[in-house]
Amino acid sequence: MIELSNVAFGYAEGPVINNLNLQLEKGSFTAITGGNGAGKTTMVKLISGLLKPTSGCVRLCGTDTRELKAKNRAKLCGFLFQNPDRQICKTSVYDEIGFSLSCIGIAGGEADKIIRETAEMLELDTKSEPFSLSKGERQKVALASVLAANPEILILDEPTTGLDYRECMRIMKIVADLNNSGTTVIMVSHDMEIVADFAKRVIVFEGGKIILDGDCRSVLTDERLRCISSVLPPQAAVLGQKLGGRFSGLFTTEEIISDCILQSQCRMHNA
Ligand SMILES: Nc1ncnc2c1ncn2[C@@H]1O[C@H](COP(=O)(O)OP(=O)(O)O)[C@@H](O)[C@H]1O
Ligand SMILES: [Mg+2]
Repeated sequence: MIELSNVAFGYAEGPVINNLNLQLEKGSFTAITGGNGAGKTTMVKLISGLLKPTSGCVRLCGTDTRELKAKNRAKLCGFLFQNPDRQICKTSVYDEIGFSLSCIGIAGGEADKIIRETAEMLELDTKSEPFSLSKGERQKVALASVLAANPEILILDEPTTGLDYRECMRIMKIVADLNNSGTTVIMVSHDMEIVADFAKRVIVFEGGKIILDGDCRSVLTDERLRCISSVLPPQAAVLGQKLGGRFSGLFTTEEIISDCILQSQCRMHNA
């Protein structure tokens, strides 16, 4: 569904991505992690078609992003920017969500219904002025305008930065539900607990290159991850590896707790 073939890209200062090859399946949930300046944002902008490769090719559902019209691209691929203030351009939550819908040709009563439903889903007041809200609330406004367009591919660039735990879980639950109903999700994140809880595939990106790629469990418990100074494995995975034995493959707090409960039940049963 998403295919990058021999993709290269650079800014005026020089190349950032060289000869990148990647395929992401429809309905997948992929986390992209790595240090600052690794090229993660550049890569997801290339996937979304916001940037075009200097050589090679990015295909979304078989279409080269160079050939996608802006309106079709917006329907196919929603992009939540790392900084919501780069995205927000209207003076009310209502107008902000409405603007995103107008870009894909939805207006009038249909738009009104979607705006109200989306705002309710994210617990936003449609009358609020986005720039008077907190960073976390502005993040939700930007996400609302992306989700309103109901894109097939959802790209989230560090979506949980600046959110408190409750807001973070609310957003991740919505994203997980969308993924369960078929939306392809690509999420850039440094929060390895969130990655462990939600992603199915993890790609570690450094210096414009993929250095680890695999299912979430195998990447987050990979010994090599600990040698990458910019990425900290989830604490539960580190604890599991340090405890060793039956704990070594566990990588979430829930798994370690469940294992301990199971063991204590077995001991009580045998006593
Ligand atoms: N708009 C830009 N103009 C010039 N250089 C940029 C621009 N955006 C990013 N870069 C440079 O490209 C490299 C990769 O940046 P980026 O993709 O934002 O990395 P990451 O998201 O992993 O932090 C960095 O060296 C950064 O300084
Ligand atoms: Mg970035």
